[in-house]
Amino acid sequence: MAALTGKVAWVTGAGSGIGQAAAIALAKEGATVVLTGRRKEPLQETATTIRQAGGKADIKPGDLMKAASVTRIARDIEKKYGRCDILVNNAGLNILERQWAKLTPANAQQVIEGNLSSAFYCSTAVLPMMRKRKDGVLIHTSSMAGRHPSLLSGPAYSAAKHGVVAMSHTINQEECVNGIRSCALLPGEVATPILDKRPVPVTPAERKRMAQSEDVGDLIRYVACLPAHITINEVWITPTWNRGYVANLQRSKA
Ligand SMILES: NC(=O)c1ccc[n+]([C@@H]2O[C@H](COP(=O)([O-])OP(=O)(O)OC[C@H]3O[C@@H](n4cnc5c(N)ncnc54)[C@H](OP(=O)(O)O)[C@@H]3O)[C@@H](O)[C@H]2O)c1
Repeated sequence: MAALTGKVAWVTGAGSGIGQAAAIALAKEGATVVLTGRRKEPLQETATTIRQAGGKADIKPGDLMKAASVTRIARDIEKKYGRCDILVNNAGLNILERQWAKLTPANAQQVIEGNLSSAFYCSTAVLPMMRKRKDGVLIHTSSMAGRHPSLLSGPAYSAAKHGVVAMSHTINQEECVNGIRSCALLPGEVATPILDKRPVPVTPAERKRMAQSEDVGDLIRYVACLPAHITINEVWITPTWNRGYVANLQRSKA
């Protein structure tokens, strides 16, 4: 029997990139995956891939920046399945005009709501289901910008992703007595559609050297499959050819 047979995993941002890869990996491991994103079509594509491989997937589109949508989806999950064992709190976004010189209040709000508020809404929505069973895993996709403020990622994104890391650690501080484990996942550069919003375009050759969605999806699967007495509190996953390190190295030799 696969490790996650009988478990229900809610994956946000499941129509593309890391979320899609995580959903496919968790379904292969036997979980029933519930897929959320704003656009229905990419979710349908992920669900079709999973079903064609013999897995179970359900789509629940919605905008996670709206607390009411999150509550509705979580209620649907509870009604249909009676449980949510795994939350992959992964949906996130960035903006093109991200530097202080161009940042507007509306753009800052979008980045903070799209990366941090949404992550809080999803966590608060699933924790009651997990407490009831005294079991559950939350995996939050933060970023290396959530540990080291990054001009490349911008101030609002760096601040929001720092918030996601803090949020995850506080879940462990409070919910460890309920058998709940929370993992802050900090990727470096991953070749996904989010890179299309970079002010400086990323070439296909550069994308090839980066971590791939499947690398991160497999790490999420690993964390989700760990025995209940183990918590991975925080994990970094970066490309070996780390462009930040390489630039520093070149500067140090100049
Ligand atoms: N790629 C990287 O280099 C990298 C590095 C570190 C961290 N991350 C983080 O990794 C996570 C996944 O991103 P990705 O790289 O896989 O990029 P991606 O392909 O753009 O995935 C982001 C997903 O989130 C969904 N989403 C965004 N806002 C949403 C909202 N308000 N409500 C519901 N769904 C929403 C998007 O779908 P819709 O547009 O259909 O809603 C999309 O499928 C993000 O949190 C990102 O910040 C990425």
